[in-house]
Amino acid sequence: MFVGDGSRALERAGEEVLECRWCDLWRSGTRAVFGSEAPNAELMLVGEAPSEADLRTGEPFSGPSGELLDEWIEALGLSRERVWLTNVVKHRPAVEEKGREKNRPPRASESKACRVWLDIELEQVAPRLILALGGSAGKSLIGKDFRITQHRGVALPGPSGVPVVATFHPAYLLRLRSPELEAAQQAVQADLGLVRDLLARR
Ligand code: URA
Repeated sequence: MFVGDGSRALERAGEEVLECRWCDLWRSGTRAVFGSEAPNAELMLVGEAPSEADLRTGEPFSGPSGELLDEWIEALGLSRERVWLTNVVKHRPAVEEKGREKNRPPRASESKACRVWLDIELEQVAPRLILALGGSAGKSLIGKDFRITQHRGVALPGPSGVPVVATFHPAYLLRLRSPELEAAQQAVQADLGLVRDLLARR
């Protein structure tokens, strides 16, 4: 899977993150999930955190939101094999509700602690463009004042000046019903159009 520039460093980071203790999320006893797949991708997509499904596969976005995300990646004329797909935090933040573990957004302290891994990915992959999926990714990449409703759909300066386009998180669309769903779908299509245009520019 790992070929090309930076691949060895990414492979090593993918092994080392399994032992990460920079925040308390490791205490859940679940595994960390690092990014994948193309170490020299032009586009990096950043989600929030691995879900329960991802803990089983060891790959980001393996569940229902991953299926929708695959459609978005396809709409960009790309595939998972040609992008780097990762998350703000590599362990799953969860909260117990009625005897069940539910995903919760990462705390600012957890995102900050986990940044060391995202920075390795950013440095080694060196993407031309980043697509931030949802508010946690937007805050991590653009800044704490990021608001998805205000700041999605435009290219903003991100880490080391790499442009970041933010769009809604696929899991958000999966929770919506008509007419909010159609409005969000239209917004995502516009955001993906911008990503396509920016990638086509040389
Ligand atoms: N799976 C991921 O890898 N990231 C998300 O943000 C959601 C599900």
